[in-house]
Amino acid sequence: MKSITDLGDLRGKRVVIRCDLNVPLDGDTITDDGRIKASLPTLTLLRDAGARIIVLAHLGRPKGAPDPQYSLAPAAKRLGELLGADVKLADDVVGESAKAAADALGDGDVLVVENVRFEAGEQSKDEAERTALAEKYAALGDVFVSDGFGVVHRKQASVYDVAKLLPAAAGELVKTEVEVMKQLTEQTQHPYVVVLGGAKVSDKLKVIDNLLAHADKLLIGGGMVFTFLKAQGYEVGSSLLEEDQVDTVKGYLERAAGKIVLPTDVVVAPEFKADSPATVVGVDAIPAGQMGLDIGPESAKAFAAEIEAAKTVFWNGPMGVAEWEAFAGGTKAVAEALTKVDGLSVVGGGDSAAAVRDLGFADDAFGHISTGGGASLEYLEGKELPGLAVLED
Ligand code: 3PG
Repeated sequence: MKSITDLGDLRGKRVVIRCDLNVPLDGDTITDDGRIKASLPTLTLLRDAGARIIVLAHLGRPKGAPDPQYSLAPAAKRLGELLGADVKLADDVVGESAKAAADALGDGDVLVVENVRFEAGEQSKDEAERTALAEKYAALGDVFVSDGFGVVHRKQASVYDVAKLLPAAAGELVKTEVEVMKQLTEQTQHPYVVVLGGAKVSDKLKVIDNLLAHADKLLIGGGMVFTFLKAQGYEVGSSLLEEDQVDTVKGYLERAAGKIVLPTDVVVAPEFKADSPATVVGVDAIPAGQMGLDIGPESAKAFAAEIEAAKTVFWNGPMGVAEWEAFAGGTKAVAEALTKVDGLSVVGGGDSAAAVRDLGFADDAFGHISTGGGASLEYLEGKELPGLAVLED
């Protein structure tokens, strides 16, 4: 992959850069600005080089038309605060406002255009439609830098198509993330332990399939664990269950030859509520009418022991409903164990990253916090990621 230095002298040049500024919001308050912070090294490097910077980014999943609730305004404001610079936000993506603001940029200035997903062409399956939009992005600049690692698995106009129209390079964030992914896949130090959580097993089937060949242990928690427990023959009460995946999961358990580690106890409650009365039960004793909302303390201890003994750990997805104190114990224990790894510990994904910060862990307590959840999982699946492939020579 080309680096920014391969783009030559950038003083006075207009650099179109794809960032991932897709931060969680509560109203217009950013609840975790990790992705904006992760974008700073490349933006600072470009500013120092005297580039005129036009940032392309998305927020949430608007439907291809302007929608004020998905405006990048809060992200642009926070970016300005963190850079200590006046960051302008255009009113549109590639319209008159964006063009005029891009033309007015001085060396080192930063412009954010509105949410790229306000344009129907951004996520279109029709290549011609995407290319037509990408041509408008390309017209805003002289070169393209790809730095939104969280979206490199998306074949979208601002990630993939624009990179074919301008001299293109990977930004610092994408380069760092790819190096870590390579350490996980090509230069793995064993024992390699992967911790997977989150709600749905159907989202993680391919990655589990691939990891069974590569990892030494696969620790499973979160909502998806109940499909595994059901596959082992346990009753799971009113817990999350993907009935149609039980057979696939049984197949994994047979193939796994002891690699898959499941909880032995869980925290259950009658309702999906923060204050629903919580009880710890064995996985063979989940009462009918109660749902599992976290792994239990005995399991958390066992998971922590596996993690601490590893040389490489990748973790994606909370172990329980981590935003509720009564059901955060498993996630806390896993996070704590990751901080003690003598080797490489990687927290994968926006949600997991936000969860550990929310629980009070500092970013530097871990080896690496990836900004890309879906992107890192697809990398570990062994898939070709369009946003990376397009940057290769
Ligand atoms: C993410 O939040 O994982 C990235 O920003 C990608 O967003 P998307 O899943 O809506 O494409």
